[in-house]
Amino acid sequence: MNTDQIVRTFTEYYEERGHRRMSGSTLLPPPGDPVLFTTSGMHSLTPYLEGRPHPLGRRLVNVQRCLRTTDLSEVGDRTHLTVFEMLGTWSLGGYEGPQSLDWGYGLLTEGFGIDPGLLHVTVFGGDEQVGPDTGSLDLWQDRGVPVELTVEDNWWSNGPTGPCGPDSEIFLWTGDTPPRSTPTRDDRWVEVWNHVMMHYRRLDDGTLVPLPQRNVDTGLGLERLQSLLQGRSSVFECDVFDPWRRLVPPLWQLDVPSLRLVCDHLRSSVVVIGDGVRPSNTGRGYVLRRLVRRVLTVLRRDDPHRGLGDLSKELVRHTLDRFGQDLDPDVVRQVLLDEERRFDLLLQRGRQVLSGRRFRGPLSEDDFHYLHDTHGLPRDLVLTLRPPQ
Ligand code: SER
Repeated sequence: MNTDQIVRTFTEYYEERGHRRMSGSTLLPPPGDPVLFTTSGMHSLTPYLEGRPHPLGRRLVNVQRCLRTTDLSEVGDRTHLTVFEMLGTWSLGGYEGPQSLDWGYGLLTEGFGIDPGLLHVTVFGGDEQVGPDTGSLDLWQDRGVPVELTVEDNWWSNGPTGPCGPDSEIFLWTGDTPPRSTPTRDDRWVEVWNHVMMHYRRLDDGTLVPLPQRNVDTGLGLERLQSLLQGRSSVFECDVFDPWRRLVPPLWQLDVPSLRLVCDHLRSSVVVIGDGVRPSNTGRGYVLRRLVRRVLTVLRRDDPHRGLGDLSKELVRHTLDRFGQDLDPDVVRQVLLDEERRFDLLLQRGRQVLSGRRFRGPLSEDDFHYLHDTHGLPRDLVLTLRPPQ
């Protein structure tokens, strides 16, 4: 199945079970939301998880683009992307967690044809505030799926306060051998789907109170699922990266982790620009700036003449189309080129400052602070100009 077929199979499966599809999928969360970018499908739903009736009813399904920068240092491995699409379902005070898990199991095994013997799940084992999630445990035992109980790994929250609850995560075995060990002990178990029993709200003082209704919130990463269903070794083998894998390697020769990082960050930058963000020194604009500068730092490491002017318009257009963004690819390229020019000016200044007498020896923490606060030179960039000896 390609990603479009997966999306169709997923949404139809849930529509047949009374879910209504929500449209709209910007990376910019609604006003008042504490996060800079949408990191999961639940952002736009917070008021409804807290009890406000949703105009489409109690059962919802959607495809939400998300951006996660918490895992930035892991991009380049097999499973992490900064921008990805999340398939999501919700029960807003409707059916309970075991029903959600049962449908999820049915879709994975019958709808997507996954061998049930390759699944393992984790379930919340209870802590001093909330008891073990026996409903999920019973369901999985009934279905014969092995369960690992954890505490922190099976508690989902969107931040220090707000809706939260125990979750049950479904993992797929990706090893060459028959499945062994458990998800927390062997990373060949890759998480595919998280079902959160969103029953609580955490208050400012850290206490938990029950939400007015018991919700279920599930999220399944599209690119990860597609590559796993194809038996591929990484998310970068997903079909949405086909043109990237074709066009980027002839342009820039990079080792595998660097190639992945460059493709991921450029693709994310295009989507972020497509949602209306422009580079700046604060907030969302700063996230975009970091993404572009990380790409430039990697590209320039081996060859100072590499630049974003070589980036194919086809890649920009392909990405904008994929995310249904109505922006001229030339506008996106211009934003990237302007940012590259600013980065080059910064590099020039950095070289000049670092050639000063004060910086001849190894750099101290004070030097890094001074370079950042007085000259606007971030640590990454200083380290690029002056790798530690
Ligand atoms: N909100 C949960 C997650 O992001 C499930 O959608 O994993």
